[in-house]
Amino acid sequence: MLTIGIDIGGTKIAGAVVASDGRIVEERRRATPADDVDAVLDAIAGVIEELAATHPARAVGVAAAGFLDAQRSRIVQAPNLAWRNEPLRERLEQRVSLPIVLENDANAAGWAEYRFGAGRDVAHMTMLTIGTGIGGAIVIDGKLFRGGFGGGAEPGHTLFQPGGLPCGCGAVGCFEQYGSGSALLRMADEAADAAGPGSALASARGSEPVLPASALIRLLEDRDPSALAVLERLGENIGRGCASLGAVLDPERFVIGGGVSVAGELLLEPIRRAYFAAAPAAEWRPRPDFRVAQFANDAGVIGAAELARAEAPPS
Ligand code: BGC
Ligand code: NA
Ligand code: ZN
Repeated sequence: MLTIGIDIGGTKIAGAVVASDGRIVEERRRATPADDVDAVLDAIAGVIEELAATHPARAVGVAAAGFLDAQRSRIVQAPNLAWRNEPLRERLEQRVSLPIVLENDANAAGWAEYRFGAGRDVAHMTMLTIGTGIGGAIVIDGKLFRGGFGGGAEPGHTLFQPGGLPCGCGAVGCFEQYGSGSALLRMADEAADAAGPGSALASARGSEPVLPASALIRLLEDRDPSALAVLERLGENIGRGCASLGAVLDPERFVIGGGVSVAGELLLEPIRRAYFAAAPAAEWRPRPDFRVAQFANDAGVIGAAELARAEAPPS
């Protein structure tokens, strides 16, 4: 059975027709229209129609960043996007004739990793997606955890630094302000200021107001020590955050996904080190392992399509 997965990102809308074994049959990408909710809905509907025109898909899973309601019909609040109480499912169902299943973006990505990827051989998995924010997916005994009101599995908004930086969710000092890809860029920018003109980071920033992501990536690829030190600090922050999560969830495996996870061992090594330094009873308890996600940018579409499969009308 074929289903469609859609992943709505801040810059791109990705869509794919996905088979029952998680394989992508066909994929489409479009730029996310800026700041206009209706244009975004039209773009999503357009991708769905194009894919459905050539493949007999039976349902559509849509992965979106933000706190969902218990019915998985609304985005209640999106810390890094303009959605507030947005009835996304209903508004998409008005535009396309297939059943729509809405899911949190990180939940969808984590479900793909659990079913087909880096978490397929464990029953208790916690995944973090490291991007603009920090997303989370929690699989407990083979089931995706969503909480009592649909807005659970949001580790990005656990308290990391009392009295710290304000967060898009309305709280202060949230984990995602210290462990996300945005935090990496902010810390690199601060390091550029501290190192001063002529330093590798300041030179990479050039005349831009803030260090562009592409410049930081280039420095990391060249193994620049000052850029690597910032990545290491990010890893340490993620590891500390995971130690708190581990005390509650005790997963067998942590999976680290999102754009920053392409750094691989450069990121995993400080995560593990900080985790075991901060985890309670670390010398006594079994150690979870840490792996990077297998599906990188495709996890959201694969997971959303797989979640929609369960709710597709029988053929
Ligand atoms: C949002 C999550 C989302 C994550 C990654 C967080 O700020 O609260 O819902 O999964 O960013 O996009
Ligand atoms: Na989540
Ligand atoms: Zn927050």
